[in-house]
Amino acid sequence: MIDKFIDKLLLILRDLRSSRAWLSIFRRSNLPRTEADYLAMNRRNFWVHVLPAKINRRSVKFSYNWMWMGVVTFWLFIILVLSGVFLMFYYVPSIERAFDSVLAIVNAVSFGRFMRNLHKWAGELMILAAFLHMMAVFFKGAYQEPREFNWIIGVLLLLITIFFGFSGYILPWDQLGYYAAAIAANIADGTPFIGKFVKSILLGGGQLDQPTLLRWYVIHVFILPTALLLLLGVHFWRIRKDGYSVPAPPEEDE
Ligand code: HEM
Repeated sequence: MIDKFIDKLLLILRDLRSSRAWLSIFRRSNLPRTEADYLAMNRRNFWVHVLPAKINRRSVKFSYNWMWMGVVTFWLFIILVLSGVFLMFYYVPSIERAFDSVLAIVNAVSFGRFMRNLHKWAGELMILAAFLHMMAVFFKGAYQEPREFNWIIGVLLLLITIFFGFSGYILPWDQLGYYAAAIAANIADGTPFIGKFVKSILLGGGQLDQPTLLRWYVIHVFILPTALLLLLGVHFWRIRKDGYSVPAPPEEDE
């Protein structure tokens, strides 16, 4: 019985793979068979063109990439986006109700405590993973030509990741969040020439109040994610164009 069901399922999947609707996703008229077909599909298709047509076998070694920390960082970001959208349904960015809404998420909303903790830990782990990824790239020497620009993009990505953690820390508007916002405004105030201007942007007025919390909320849920996604697009595009770094071939035993 189960065999018949699996056979049927495999038949349906095989028919789907060769159906016009499926092939049109990949802008193909038939299934790729030869290497030339795969290379053509890679060039012509938005979904697969981010993947390299060819990659050196040694480059994909787990040990060489420190457990693919860049990929781990990327998936932690996806977890943050999904759990963050869940929290946005319940979190209220108002100085009167922010803390209570976080308490309600933790104590009253189904899966609220799990989602909030998932969001919090994914945020902490993303900073750690991005740092380990940077270490991996450094010790591989993968910052050298032609990847210097991608290293700089990487540094910007790391700063945004850290700033994500800091801006998220402010949003519950508890004692910690309130004074973190105060410290940020005072640090900004110390910036030469533009200090007063940056401080007024962060405060949204003369003192810590409703506009302050709203501005950190917009920074956390819109400005930083947009900046990170744009830079990640450039990061991945450069990995693709620079080609993935290849470790030196193993030395032959004398
Ligand atoms: C949000 C943070 C980041 C994400 C999501 C990310 C993602 C990735 C991914 C998926 C790869 C390819 C696979 C891998 O090596 O694991 C990669 C490669 C690379 N990343 Fe990042 N990255 C981030 C931050 C950084 C940082 C902080 C740096 C350096 C300061 C950096 C520099 C590079 C370079 C140079 C490569 C090419 C490595 C090679 O060719 O061997 N990235 N990144």
